[in-house]
Formats: sequence, C-alpha cells, structure tokens
Amino acid sequence: MTTKTSISKRILVTGGAGFLGSHLCDRLIEQGHDVLCVDNFFTGSKRNVAHLLDHPRFELMRHDVTFPLYVEVDEIYNLACPASPVHYQYDPVQTTKTSVHGAINMLGLAKRVRAKILQASTSEVYGDPEVHPQPESYWGKVNPIGIRSCYDEGKRCAETLFFDYWRQHQLRIKVVRIFNTYGPRMHPNDGRVVSNFIVQALRGEPITIYGDGQQTRSFCFADDLIEAMIRTMGTGDDFTGPINIGNPGEFTMLELAKLVIELTGSSSKLKFMPLPADDPKQRRPDIRLAEATLNWKPGVPLREGLSRTIEYFRKVATS
Ligand SMILES: NC(=O)c1ccc[n+]([C@@H]2O[C@H](COP(=O)([O-])OP(=O)(O)OC[C@H]3O[C@@H](n4cnc5c(N)ncnc54)[C@H](O)[C@@H]3O)[C@@H](O)[C@H]2O)c1
Repeated sequence: MTTKTSISKRILVTGGAGFLGSHLCDRLIEQGHDVLCVDNFFTGSKRNVAHLLDHPRFELMRHDVTFPLYVEVDEIYNLACPASPVHYQYDPVQTTKTSVHGAINMLGLAKRVRAKILQASTSEVYGDPEVHPQPESYWGKVNPIGIRSCYDEGKRCAETLFFDYWRQHQLRIKVVRIFNTYGPRMHPNDGRVVSNFIVQALRGEPITIYGDGQQTRSFCFADDLIEAMIRTMGTGDDFTGPINIGNPGEFTMLELAKLVIELTGSSSKLKFMPLPADDPKQRRPDIRLAEATLNWKPGVPLREGLSRTIEYFRKVATS
C-alpha cells in the first residue's frame, strides 16, 4: 500500500539521516520528489542514506536545526531530534533547544517560503497517561521537571509553536504524534526496547527487562509509519492534526522478549532490573482519527516486522 504522486516537489527532511528520516527520504525519492536531507549526525548517520548520495534528486546537508536555515522548499518534514532516552538525556539542554529552537527555525523558514510543514511529535506528549488508549483530545500527564522532560516538554512546546504559527500566520501545519516505531536502521545502542532485545539476543547476552515486564507497549513498523506520515502531509489545508500514528496492538515486555528469543533462535535468558523514573506503565494509540482521515491502518504484524529488523541487525553485526 504506497502513495504515488505525479507532482514533483522540493522537500526538506530534517533529521533525514536518522532511523525514520532515512526511510522517509527513500519513499519521497521513490515518489519522484527532490529531497534535501538535513542532519547534524548526532544520532543519525551518513550510512543510513549512503545509497541515496549519488541520486540526482537527493542532497545531504550537515546542519544543526537550532541555527536558522535558508533554502527554497515546498514542504518540510521536521524530524530532527534524538528520540531515545539514552540519547536525549545525554545533553538535555541541547534536546530542548533542538525541539524548541529547531521548531522556531523551521516554522520561520516555512513562513518565509510559504511551505507546508509537518512536525514529528510523539506519544510522549501524553506522559504517563491516565487514559487508555490515548485519543488526540487527551492533554496528557507530564512531569515538567523530570529526566524525560527535556524531550516531553520540548515536543509539547514545539506543538504549541506549530499551532501558534497556524493561528497567527496561517501557516499550513500538520502535527503527527508518533508512537513507538521500530525497524531496520534503528541505532543498535539507543537503548530502545526493540533494538536492545534484538542486539542482546543476537549476542547471546541476557535480555534486560525493567520492572516485572508486565508494562505494555505498542510497536509500529517503520514502513507503516512513513506511509501515514506522507498521507498526513497530503491532507487538505484545513487538517492540522494532532493525529496519532502507531500500531494499537499491545504487547508486554515479557511477550516481546520471548518473541525476539524465538525469532533469533537465541539462548539468551531474561534479566530483571529496577524500573527507571517516569517510565510509563502502558501506552497504546487510539488511531481512529488516522483511520478515518488517512484511510490508513498499520499492516505489518509484529512477527514480520521483527523478522525484518532482526535480519538488518544481523547484517550490521557481521559487516
Ligand atoms: N522512532 C520512534 O519510535 C519515535 C516515536 C515518537 C517520535 N519520534 C520522532 O521522530 C523523529 C525521528 O526519530 P527517529 O526514531 O528516527 O530517531 P533518530 O535519532 O534516529 O533520528 C533523529 C535524527 O535527528 C538528527 N538530529 C538530532 N538533533 C539534531 C539537530 N539539532 N539538528 C539536525 N539534526 C538533528 C539526528 O542526528 C538523527 O539523524 C524524532 O523527532 C522523534 O522524536 C520517533
């Protein structure tokens, strides 16, 4: 299920050398667009877009979005921001700056060139939610001063900026709230649960489970997510979001660990560790708005997505 378009646009993807950004660049190039990929390579890597470097419609620029950018584009996908706790907590001040100054700079650019702009927001704006599953109308329960706040509050502030630019300057905005997404090109050391489990299983190391492993997460495969993101960009100007994108299938950490062990054929054992601060106990998207607005629903089951991700990690480990 892919979207095809006949009109070629100039599209900026910030964070384009990251996990999701690189898949987005692939799809936009496939659709015939000119893609400008901007990244400071904090968590992303040239390797993720190496196969695109010789493409005549692809350009890679090293740039930090906390500084202004002057380019001519028709659409902007703003993905620049470290997404895993290990990386966003490494330099929390820079994380907030990336979300907030990055949003201001990209919105400023969109305003100057009258581009349409999409923000990669996150389910983290819901914090440790009291409502399950989370609809877009839920305002969230976020700790403003905790160790996750640089990311959660940074992303919340970015959403505020998007909506103020929309109200104040009539900018065409789209805000997508992404729930846990996984797939090939995830950073092997980013501490996210899927990459952690796979890497540990492939190395035959114990699989680390925080708490009792009964906390649940939903996992969306990257291809499904990118399709929904591109469809969101294609919605009419009156549609701003926020819109949840994710896979509502809910799995406990124990179930995930067992599936990874089965699919890798690993002999790894489970190792239980204390739960980190502010770790949400349950998170699951309500995607009724996405289903109705985008005529979309995730199609890749966890077992298949995990197999494709494991295949990637095996190749990376042996290359
Ligand atoms: N993967 C998920 O499950 C998930 C969930 C919710 C939201 N998101 C959002 O999607 C976006 C992409 O996430 P990802 O999973 O691909 O993570 P990622 O870390 O692989 O990608 C982020 C990219 O942004 C770049 N970057 C970071 N700071 C930058 C800066 N100041 N200037 C320029 N580039 C910068 C990084 O180098 C990297 O290439 C992020 O905004 C993230 O918050 C992802």
